[in-house]
Amino acid sequence: MPDVEILMTGAYPEWDMVDLEAKYRVHRLWEAEDRQELIARVGKDIRAIATRGELGASAELMKQLPKLEIVSCYGVGTDAIDLAYARANGIRVTNTPDVLTEDVADIAIGLLLATARQIPQADVFVRAGQWGNVAMPLVTRVAGKKVGLAGMGRIGKAIAKRAAAFGCDISYFARNEHTDVDYAYQPDLVALADWADFLIVIVPGGQATMKIINAEVLKALGPNGMLINVSRGTTVDEEALIAALQDGTIQAAGLDVFLNEPKIDARFLTLQNVVLQPHHGSGTVETRKAMGQLVRDNLAAHFAGAALPTPVV
Ligand code: 8YV
Repeated sequence: MPDVEILMTGAYPEWDMVDLEAKYRVHRLWEAEDRQELIARVGKDIRAIATRGELGASAELMKQLPKLEIVSCYGVGTDAIDLAYARANGIRVTNTPDVLTEDVADIAIGLLLATARQIPQADVFVRAGQWGNVAMPLVTRVAGKKVGLAGMGRIGKAIAKRAAAFGCDISYFARNEHTDVDYAYQPDLVALADWADFLIVIVPGGQATMKIINAEVLKALGPNGMLINVSRGTTVDEEALIAALQDGTIQAAGLDVFLNEPKIDARFLTLQNVVLQPHHGSGTVETRKAMGQLVRDNLAAHFAGAALPTPVV
C-alpha cells in the first residue's frame, strides 16, 4: 500500500487516477457521502491535495490537514486556493501553466465566432428543417473588427495572436502595460469596452478582478457589442450581464465560465443571445493529458525532495 496519503477534491481522467492510485493512498473527497466525516477520519494523515482550478483549496480545508505539505492544482488559475494561508503555513502550491494556453485561446476565438456568426443557432435552424422555408437571419462579421482584451497574460497573448490573424484591431486592459507586445494599452476598462466591438475577458480570477465587468462596462460595450468570458465567473457581475442581455444593452455573449458552476443561473438557459460552454477551455484530450502529467510531476518532485516543475508558492 503506498504510504503517502493524498486528498483529491474532484475527479481527474482515468489515466491520471490510475497513476495516482498506484503511487499514493488517494482519498476521494467528491465521492464521500459525508465529506466532513472523511476529513475528520483521514485529515491528520493527508500530505497533499490534488485539486482542480475551479475547486481550489480553502483555508478552512487546509486547516484540517495538519501534515499538509503541497497543493497541486490541475489548472492554471489558483484564485480558489487560499495562497496567503498556504504561504503562511509553508504549504507549497503548484499549477499547470503553458500546457493549456493554446486550447483556452482557441475556445475564446471559437466562442467569439460562435457568438457573432450564431453557429449554434444555425445548427438548430438546419436540424429543425428551417433551411429552405425561412431565411437564416444575417449575422455579425468578426474579421477586421475591434477586439478588446481584458488581460494580457500568456493566454491573452495567444488570443491576441489569433485575433490579429483575423485582421482585427487589438487593444488591451491590464494592471500594467506589457512591453513585449505592440497592441495598444488601455488602462481604462470602460474606455476599452466603448472602443471594442468584442470584449474578451481573460484576467485571473480573485479579489482584484471581482465583477470588473460591471453595468458601466457593459453599457460602454453597447448594443452591437459582444462579451466573451474565458476567465472566471467572478470577473463578471452576472446580474448586470443578464440584464444587459435581456434588454439589449449588449448584443450577445459567449461564456465558458460562470458563478456557481455547474449550477449556473437558470436565466442564462432562457436567453437566445448567449452561447454557453461548460468551463471547457482546457478540455481537450491533449491538454488534459499534459495537465494531469504536470500535477503528477509536481507531486513526484515534491515527495522526492526535488525542485517543483511549476511552483506558485
Ligand atoms: C480547470 C481552469 O482547471 O486552468 C484553469 O484555471 O479553470 C481549468 O483548466 C479545468 O476545467 C479542470 O477542472
